[in-house]
Amino acid sequence: MKGVILAGGTGSRLYPCTKVTNKHLLPVYNKPMIFYPIETLKGSGVNEILVISSPEHAGDFMQLLGSGADINVNFTYKIQDGAGGIAQALSLAEDFANGESLAVILSDNIFEETFPDDVMRFKQGAQIFVKEVEDPGRFGVVELKEDNTVRSIEEKPNFPKSKLAQTGLYLYDNQVFNYIKQVQPSKRGELEITDVNNLYREKNLLKARKFLGMWADAGTHDSLLEANILAHEAFSGTSLRRELKSETPTLNAVSPKVTIGLLTCNSEAYLEPCLDSLLAQDYENLEIVVLDNHSQDNSVSEITTNYPQIQLIESEENLGFGKGHNRIINQTDGEFYACLNADMIFEPNFISSLVRAISEKPIYGSAGGKLKRWDFQGYNDNSGSVRDMGKTNFIDSVGIKMLKNHRFEDLGQGEVDYGQYDDTKDLFGISGAAVLYRRKSLEDVAFTNQEGEKEYFDEAMFMYKEDIDLAYRLQWAAWKCRYTPNAIAYHDRTTQTLGTSTWEIIKNRNSKPSRINQMSYLNHKILVQKNFVDDFSLGVKSSTGWYNFKMFMYLALFEQETLAQWWKLFKLRKKIRAQRDTMPRRVSQAEIENLMEA
Ligand code: DAU
Repeated sequence: MKGVILAGGTGSRLYPCTKVTNKHLLPVYNKPMIFYPIETLKGSGVNEILVISSPEHAGDFMQLLGSGADINVNFTYKIQDGAGGIAQALSLAEDFANGESLAVILSDNIFEETFPDDVMRFKQGAQIFVKEVEDPGRFGVVELKEDNTVRSIEEKPNFPKSKLAQTGLYLYDNQVFNYIKQVQPSKRGELEITDVNNLYREKNLLKARKFLGMWADAGTHDSLLEANILAHEAFSGTSLRRELKSETPTLNAVSPKVTIGLLTCNSEAYLEPCLDSLLAQDYENLEIVVLDNHSQDNSVSEITTNYPQIQLIESEENLGFGKGHNRIINQTDGEFYACLNADMIFEPNFISSLVRAISEKPIYGSAGGKLKRWDFQGYNDNSGSVRDMGKTNFIDSVGIKMLKNHRFEDLGQGEVDYGQYDDTKDLFGISGAAVLYRRKSLEDVAFTNQEGEKEYFDEAMFMYKEDIDLAYRLQWAAWKCRYTPNAIAYHDRTTQTLGTSTWEIIKNRNSKPSRINQMSYLNHKILVQKNFVDDFSLGVKSSTGWYNFKMFMYLALFEQETLAQWWKLFKLRKKIRAQRDTMPRRVSQAEIENLMEA
């Protein structure tokens, strides 16, 4: 969905403040008024935005907002000559919309909340957002029927039929331009947006949604003053915003179900911060399932005592990562599966942002966000401080990068986050620490094992690199992977990668327990054997061969015990070959090579 901000008009009701400037450039609390609608759209997942303003001040808007690249938004500008009304201003967005749906917002409207779920679910017709006010006669007044459908909307009536104001945020399908062509100028000589909405209403295509958060229209001196006070109250602290968000009623019938799967294995210390952050998610259609991998600590009793709403599966042995998650996936039915680590905390919009990202196109099989390092020690030392919770600004992973030699690295790991990964984009894969899969894509690439059970993650890999193997298989099967910087979580990674030079890789191996190095080596071999194809170019073949050779020499000299993994690999050869022969390969080798970096 694209966004339109209407910032035209004369601002006559704010004269003389608007004598030399545009109303929407006036300050509200600590920023120019227009920043609020931009944040509302951006927070609702709309990043491509047309700003329509008056000719006298269009240059000021461009100077203030620029291209939008610095805030991860793409601005386009258009001029409305005169002030022919909101609907007339909107008619100028037809080319920009180019057939897509639009979120339209009036530039003098300040919303405390954002509306990502509404934007995500919107398909056709129109949707308005209504709010109970004391002085409805100043607005478009909405009368609802018992079943919450709209009976009438009247623009600034003398005798309002209800206290519900139509606010200045509207969602429209691409028919809106046909409806605008049908409306006539009102008594005040404007094409009224209310008349457009009434056309949708007459066709039973108009939805209304009440919301709880603060809303202000800053169109008059008094309401501008009030907007300043309300904006200060709402935005000078974050807590109110959060509370309102979780209370906000949503149209939950249509949001797809997400199953969150977590594995615990002596994870007691992490459970409270992790589970609390999951229970505070703003996505409403969620189930949380924990599989306990035979913990020896109090993980199980902590969950049964304090989190009765969470489903617990107790395993009598440690199944490892892949088998543990496979068991949860096999026993649940969410349309999306969020594979999450327990040593993490999640921002409240983590899941909703991932669902929004993966829902952008049906070809997205997985989606991930920005994982930053969680200073768990710091969090514990300072447990009174709820404010920072040990959150750092160091990146843990913003995805997995595949190199030509078939080494795989966590993108961004160890870097300070200064916005360098703030673009939404397609990637090779996402770290298994926190990734959302589309169930359909998992079913598509799953193997059925000898016991007749589905293996989404390869169970021959007890731990490590199974996420890379799955990412690789999804790519072969033409499922794309989406990264969004809006989904933020914090991860206490115990095995950090130090760097990418040969020396750093060696140091890194030395710093890890040999069991981890051995599993990692075996799993690397399994995944390469499964995913490597003879068609790869000479460049990929030779760099992969050379890397394997260097690795082998290093192990022969310094880590002979790891070479014993070759025996395990030999024993697995039939299984690997069978998987290799049956996995779907819908893209060419060249497309896979395009994902590889030098
Ligand atoms: O704020 C909500 C109200 O906004 C709704 O309840 C009403 O139904 C709707 O008509 C509108 O009423 P206002 O009287 O507040 O509209 P106003 O003329 O103040 O315009 C609101 C914004 O729309 C303004 O800040 C800039 C933009 N606009 C307006 C006109 C008339 C344009 O971009 N171009 C225009 O020609």
